Amino acid sequence: MKALVLAGGSGTRLRPLTHTMAKQLVPVANKPILHFVMDQIAGTGITDIGVIISPETGNQIRQSLGGGEKWGAKITYILQDKPAGLAHAVKTAQPFLREDPFLMFLGDNLIQGGVKQVVDQFGAESPQAVILLKEVANPRAFGVAVVDDDLRVLKLVEKPKDPPSNLALVGIYVFSPEIHRAIERIKPSWRGELEITDAIQELLHMDRRVLARKLTGWWLDTGKKDDILEANRVVLDEYATAGSLGEADESSVISGRVQIGTGTKVTASTIRGPVVIGDNCEIKNAFIGPYTAIGSNTCLSGAAVEHSVILENCRIDCAVRLEDSLIGTGARVARRNSSLKSLRLFLGDDAEVIM
Ligand code: DAU
Repeated sequence: MKALVLAGGSGTRLRPLTHTMAKQLVPVANKPILHFVMDQIAGTGITDIGVIISPETGNQIRQSLGGGEKWGAKITYILQDKPAGLAHAVKTAQPFLREDPFLMFLGDNLIQGGVKQVVDQFGAESPQAVILLKEVANPRAFGVAVVDDDLRVLKLVEKPKDPPSNLALVGIYVFSPEIHRAIERIKPSWRGELEITDAIQELLHMDRRVLARKLTGWWLDTGKKDDILEANRVVLDEYATAGSLGEADESSVISGRVQIGTGTKVTASTIRGPVVIGDNCEIKNAFIGPYTAIGSNTCLSGAAVEHSVILENCRIDCAVRLEDSLIGTGARVARRNSSLKSLRLFLGDDAEVIM
């Protein structure tokens, strides 16, 4: 079996961060989302992986994943010239996929527990597709499926105004090559995209068997700022371990699961985990509260930060409290004469906020 990772698209909902960065590379717990996706694919034993990239961010994705050696895999990059839909991405990848079955994984989705079970179910039951479903409160924002008691899929609709169920399609699918025939038969949707949801519905019209699995663990679709913060919280909660390769002075208090990278210096600060701090950071007279990730080479001086993601090379050197904030690479926050005490920021790369 092959895998197809979708790391193209335009990332409009994560602007300003995605003006400069591919949305699949935004880190949670200091690791790009796409690397978690690759870990989960490697966990199934699949080693032949196609990665869909866009002309705008393709080079960043290539640099980040390389040839796939880190995952014991071989990556083939496939350029999709425009973000014309998930089924369009599969069509573009057809020369790579040929007539092999494949696991398709949206590069900005994460689920608890990995994808081995869904791949194994496909192998054991030989349907034309297996999809993953999750009960959600806002099905209008997703593809939605109706299933029978045996979890056979009866109907699918993409982003319905009037959802026929609360079961959303998680961005993870396993397909037989029949999906290519279905894609040939569909037309672009109202949003001008060739939808994979419509292609799976077409499989049903063609009398093919589509099975579903219900996901009970967490699912993170990291499309927006608050989704990234939630992903960061959930991933830190699950994976953060205590361990310091850096230095903390005697007046600092570090409690809970706090990971500190090589070369990082902590002085006169309090850190309460789960927290992860990258390499070569300087943390001075600061408070870092739970569910915070700080990228490498960032300097925090005098600030209190909680439930936030701060990327690499930032400077925050003023007495300010930051909560629920997402701060891009190389950003700077400083104070001149404002009396503001608490801020919620969403800053793009190289942004500067002087209060
Ligand atoms: O997240 C789950 C949802 O993903 C499903 O419930 C929907 O049925 C499915 O259509 C999809 O909806 P989104 O509107 O959230 O998809 P988005 O445009 O965010 O694209 C998902 C990923 O695929 C993202 O990493 C970008 C990539 N992509 C997207 C398009 C449209 C491509 O590589 N090429 C594309 O043409």
